[in-house]
Amino acid sequence: MSDSTARPVDYSRVFTQAIDRLHAEGRYRVFIDILRNKGMFPNARCFAGHNGPMPITVWCSNDYLAMGQHPKVIAAMEEALHDVGAGSGGTRNIGGNTHYHVDLENELADLHGKEGALLFTSGYVSNEATLATLGKILPGCIIFSDELNHASMIAGIRNSGCDKRVFRHNDVAHLEQLLAAEDPNAPKLIAFESVYSMEGDIAPLAAICDLADKYNALTYLDEVHAVGMYGPRGGGISERDGVADRITIIEGTLGKAFGVMGGYIAADQTIIDVIRSYAPGFIFTTSLSPVLVAGVLASVRHLKASTAERDGQQASARMLKAMLAEVGLPVLPGDTHIVPLMVGDPVKAKRISDILLAEYGVYVQPINYPTVPRGTERLRFTPGPAHDEAMMRDLTKALVDIWNRLELELRKAA
Ligand SMILES: Cc1ncc(COP(=O)(O)O)c(C=O)c1O
Repeated sequence: MSDSTARPVDYSRVFTQAIDRLHAEGRYRVFIDILRNKGMFPNARCFAGHNGPMPITVWCSNDYLAMGQHPKVIAAMEEALHDVGAGSGGTRNIGGNTHYHVDLENELADLHGKEGALLFTSGYVSNEATLATLGKILPGCIIFSDELNHASMIAGIRNSGCDKRVFRHNDVAHLEQLLAAEDPNAPKLIAFESVYSMEGDIAPLAAICDLADKYNALTYLDEVHAVGMYGPRGGGISERDGVADRITIIEGTLGKAFGVMGGYIAADQTIIDVIRSYAPGFIFTTSLSPVLVAGVLASVRHLKASTAERDGQQASARMLKAMLAEVGLPVLPGDTHIVPLMVGDPVKAKRISDILLAEYGVYVQPINYPTVPRGTERLRFTPGPAHDEAMMRDLTKALVDIWNRLELELRKAA
């Protein structure tokens, strides 16, 4: 029975209140409107002000190695566009399985030393679709998930309908405790990342594989922030550490170090066949444009052979971390290419980012909840091979000025 005294829902009010909550917490997201200047990365133009485009330096791009600007990648995309046109024209099953897609899957399988690979329209979709499908194919499976896993893995695990156990970040002892507590005959899957993109730390891959062997568990590794950048051919941390053959499924993106767009998994042919045949996120969607796939092919092939980009990136990250630490800025230590500068407050993180952009032409996005836990808000710098020493000196000086102006603490080395 309907309640005649109840008021009709005020939809507009509900939506406005949802946005107001974000403003009140200081985590309303503002997208910065930019255009990158082809061939001149990290230089770009920003359209935020009223006085026309302003030149800026981008410090937060996930086009980590500037491959999105690489002449080989651009030439390959131009050639494909002129050869076969813009789109794929269908799903992989109905007309959209181009020869570019087949070539790229072979290239990615080879990169990880696996029998097969499967392309998706993004890294997010590859995680969600694969984990959700695996869980459904393995009734009673228990998924063990690192507490800092990406939202796309969490969504996939939730949609799998499996029981989930969350282990403390990179804590192998805790993972073992959770594994040991379950029925030895229950199917198990350990889902984790190699480089954690907000912390800039690396998972103990070999130790996790040891546990997987001991407890008969499958392993699912997200290498989104490592492919192209680690290992002699850019096969990620699993290649660097010589454990790729011990990982059941390796997942990666084509939108970060490879500079274009898309996602993939690499695994044994049977697993690839299962995901290809059962995952709705793979089956019911138009395949990637062959133009994008051609660009990725050029990028993957280049990075398999060239180490200059990887070496340049590591050198830049080391230099920036050292400069920030020297002046007492709260940079998180670590051995990866990611340089997190801790602020611990969403309003201040946004304020610092606003001042950097408006007054110094520096673009770095504040990272707030839910991307990172509350109280750990930060600025996340991703210096690459094209960020030079002079840019880093200017950035460090700007940050010190702002830290002093906002009366934030500088921890001088003893
Ligand atoms: C760890 C991790 N996995 C997956 C993704 C999704 O990748 P994509 O941007 O290709 O959708 C991201 C994106 O930021 C990520 O950080």
